[in-house]
Amino acid sequence: MSIFSRKKIVPAYPGFSWLSQDIHSHILPGIDDGSPDIETSLQLLNSLHDAGISKFICTPHIIGDLYHNTPQTINDALGKLKKAVYQNGLDVEISAAAEYMLDDHFMELIRNKEPLMKLSGNYILTELSYATPPSRLEDISFEININNYQPLMAHPERYPYYHNNYEAYSRLKELGFLLQVNLLSLTGYYGKYVAKAAKYILENNLADFVGTDLHHFNHLNVLTDTKSIEMFEKYLGHKVYNVFPSISQHASTGT
Ligand SMILES: [Fe+2]
Repeated sequence: MSIFSRKKIVPAYPGFSWLSQDIHSHILPGIDDGSPDIETSLQLLNSLHDAGISKFICTPHIIGDLYHNTPQTINDALGKLKKAVYQNGLDVEISAAAEYMLDDHFMELIRNKEPLMKLSGNYILTELSYATPPSRLEDISFEININNYQPLMAHPERYPYYHNNYEAYSRLKELGFLLQVNLLSLTGYYGKYVAKAAKYILENNLADFVGTDLHHFNHLNVLTDTKSIEMFEKYLGHKVYNVFPSISQHASTGT
């Protein structure tokens, strides 16, 4: 029997109609700092579905010295969650990619031509350390570009070393990164400097994608709070986010 059969949550807000899909989350069970088990994953997915999101690309961390995930560990977790989603009659579509820390392990993967887990087409999700600014981003982006991947930089607004240097966001774009802002950043969840940077990126039309970066129930509660929903609508409601161009469009624009 479905774990949701006794309790039906009725959404009290208009939802995420401007979001075609979520492309960044840690809701695969037990393989990084996100959901610890299948039951939690199901509860998170069910609540997001009730809030109006029904398509998810799950992106577990791959960090050389911390979360040594591989396509195998990620696809295994995806398989388990897909089975549970089906058994519980949850009407959501889930797939998986990864959130790659741009560290030595990543450089090894890309130089060894290991296949990377892609969001769609040739798009990969990347992140930087919060503590230390990247020392050789030019080299890393060069390797990414010559291997024909299109990188999306996760939550550029969260890196403290860019807070006094907003020019860095344009520089990331010059290096070939598209920018993915976290929804929670807008709400002030990560602090006022992150919120200010997120608004700067959006107001200057530098944001290409947005994501929940959902790890746990605290994130869920803030994301689905009525005030948050109103704020998202104000900043994001004028277009539909997270639609990947089709392969043919991609080829014709050369982006
Ligand atoms: Fe993340």
